[in-house]
Amino acid sequence: MAPVNVAAANTPYYTPAQTPPAGTALSPNPPTLFTPIKIRDVTFQNRIWVAPMCTYSAKDGFLTDFHFQHLSAFSFRGASLTIIEATSVLPNGGITPQDSGLWSDAQIAPIRRIADFVHSQGQKLGIQLAHAGRKASTLAPWLVGRGESDLATEDVGGWPADVMGPSAIPWGKGYATPREMTAQDIKDLINGFRDAAKRAVEAGVDVIEIHAAHGYLFCSWMSPISNKRTDQYGGSFENRIRLLLETIKAVREVIPSGMPLLVRVSSTEWMENSGEPESWDVESTIRLAKLLPALGVDLLDVSSGGNHEKQVIPRHNVDYQVDIAARIRAELLEAGIKGLLIGAVGLITEAEAAKSIVENGKEGPRDQVEIENERGVKTKADIVLVARQFLREPEWVFRVAYKLGVEVKWPIQYHRGQFRKDGELVTVP
Ligand SMILES: Cc1cc2nc3c(=O)[nH]c(=O)nc-3n(C[C@H](O)[C@H](O)[C@H](O)COP(=O)(O)O)c2cc1C
Repeated sequence: MAPVNVAAANTPYYTPAQTPPAGTALSPNPPTLFTPIKIRDVTFQNRIWVAPMCTYSAKDGFLTDFHFQHLSAFSFRGASLTIIEATSVLPNGGITPQDSGLWSDAQIAPIRRIADFVHSQGQKLGIQLAHAGRKASTLAPWLVGRGESDLATEDVGGWPADVMGPSAIPWGKGYATPREMTAQDIKDLINGFRDAAKRAVEAGVDVIEIHAAHGYLFCSWMSPISNKRTDQYGGSFENRIRLLLETIKAVREVIPSGMPLLVRVSSTEWMENSGEPESWDVESTIRLAKLLPALGVDLLDVSSGGNHEKQVIPRHNVDYQVDIAARIRAELLEAGIKGLLIGAVGLITEAEAAKSIVENGKEGPRDQVEIENERGVKTKADIVLVARQFLREPEWVFRVAYKLGVEVKWPIQYHRGQFRKDGELVTVP
């Protein structure tokens, strides 16, 4: 009997099953980068994730065919998790009027369509739930600088009179002055995250990330520079992180216990030398990180900056942010906290860099908390998240594998296109 062309399960149309999924190592003893990692009930076949990237291309918060092809391209080509861009949980939480949104049940369907396709390929989809806070209601970046201000006014779909934050301090010149959020606003925000998380589950996403970075709502609440409140949400460190912790609890309560929950933070707002008496810095992040495993957070995605126009980033190479991730990871392990994985992001473009960031020299099954490899070099992170390199090369996972000499599974339809060792040609029948 001729072999059967097996169809992907649970897919309403025929597409061949990808067994194992693209991006799975086929060579024996691959580097850690190409070993699986299991987080709660979800197994990822490698350690390369696509970081969330706003595309400012949604219609009233609805994803479109653009997002379908954009996200599917990475997922189809072997990224073990593709995270949907910052998705606002409330109508006033988009960065621009064209941001992705999940404040209504009607917005579930286009996300479900993407999730179904991603699953048909044996891959995983995440979503970043967000609120832009005082950085909301601005123009898409390609329009910025073209007018008098970067503000999206009502006539272009903006909501400058409904921008909110911890205190009535604008992010910078040309931004809306936010209203100081009331007790009702706080309630609405937490409910917004809870309801959007439920909708994300209904849409079939595998992973949820809460966006607490880059000066958006939570980040501005955590910083003593932008949060000048005098109630239980301002002042001390404990008060400034309260809103984030309450939101994490609300989200964890409504998502399945087997679903990974991630939090992205700005590990420093890069204001250490600004003359301000206090800023959100790496020490603050380490304090926060220690509290997260008890709340059911599985991974801290370590970004930085974006909360202040006067931020000063001291150096800019592949280590500048990855080393912060490494420091947080090491300090957690030193404190005996093993329940929080660390994601590194920022300027990761080369195969060797990606490999060395997550490398763990142990043979056999890797212990995710192992920190020393055989050369005495510390593992810096458990996962690498990559953004811009995927825009340049959606097939980056295959390129990295090729450069590292690791044979990986390609999508079955593309098997003739595989990169070949030593320029070896494939005979096309
Ligand atoms: C076009 C674009 C859109 C982005 N949108 C988001 C976003 O929605 N949420 C987020 O947390 N970070 C966002 N970022 C930041 C990236 O996720 C990432 O942290 C940053 O680009 C550094 O990684 P890279 O050097 O691999 O690009 C965006 C970056 C780019 C280039």
